[in-house]
Amino acid sequence: MNKFSKRLAVALMACAAAGTAACQEQSKPEDKAAASTPAPAAETKSEAAATPAAEAPAAAPAAEPEKTAEAPAAPAPEAAPAQPQQVAQAEPAAAAAPNPDDPNAPEAGSRKPDGDAVYPNPVSELAKSEGLKFEDGRYRTKDGDPAPVVTKDYMVDWGTWNGFRRYHDACHVCHGPNALGSTFAPALAESLKTMDYNEFLATVSSGRVANRGGTEYVMPAFGEDKNIMCYIDDIYTYIKARSTGAMPAGRPNGREDISPEAKKGADDCMG
Ligand code: HEC
Repeated sequence: MNKFSKRLAVALMACAAAGTAACQEQSKPEDKAAASTPAPAAETKSEAAATPAAEAPAAAPAAEPEKTAEAPAAPAPEAAPAQPQQVAQAEPAAAAAPNPDDPNAPEAGSRKPDGDAVYPNPVSELAKSEGLKFEDGRYRTKDGDPAPVVTKDYMVDWGTWNGFRRYHDACHVCHGPNALGSTFAPALAESLKTMDYNEFLATVSSGRVANRGGTEYVMPAFGEDKNIMCYIDDIYTYIKARSTGAMPAGRPNGREDISPEAKKGADDCMG
């Protein structure tokens, strides 16, 4: 690699580590290296819409009226799965659910020891019907790999929703909005059709550099970056849902409440 592209590679890694905002600033095309920076993805249209949304406070995502250009047309259902009318829709188990207004009731998002939702909701019911287990703060396949849950109304599990936000914070600058790729980096929605969870983890952790026609294409190594690695399973489930077609482009319509386990897991990881 020549001196310039080496510097660019280092700069890209540094700016990726420093966060997306700094990265976008730094990668404004100012010179002939522009072609090999992630700028093309940063300039695609829906990005501007997706980024602020991705930074929205976690409190009431589904209640926000604004949508990305490609957001699904389905009307947004009420935000909090624990709301009475949604609990009422659920199967017989709902009858046993505690009243969430009771001050002694378990927290929203709580799980029974076997992983069942204390407050059943469309996402938890779908997960159950798909044979997914809730373990260590998220739905998982029988093999223990993180798995997305997306209802036909595009309500998602907490992890997938968080992954949508985190992807659009940290990955889309290179990989394009909605995991659809850019001229700089591949469409991860395609990659995950064949790449398994462990290979995904290893790639994000160790990074990768490709040289094509004298241009360096750098996938930063995120292994030391807690802002990525503490949420990598969330990012994985979001991209996985894009790869299966379960999740259309744009923002999910709503989500389950975060479980106490997931919250503690993320807090412990971030330290
Ligand atoms: C600075 C730009 C950049 C950022 C930011 C970035 N990537 Fe990449 N990524 C790349 C490039 C370039 C490649 C392809 C390298 C190659 O051609 O082998 C790649 C490849 C990958 C691959 C392998 C895909 C395949 O089909 O082999 C995965 C998985 C991946 N990135 C995940 C992520 C995730 C997850 C994030 C966000 C946490 C992310 N990347 C952020 C540039 C980036």
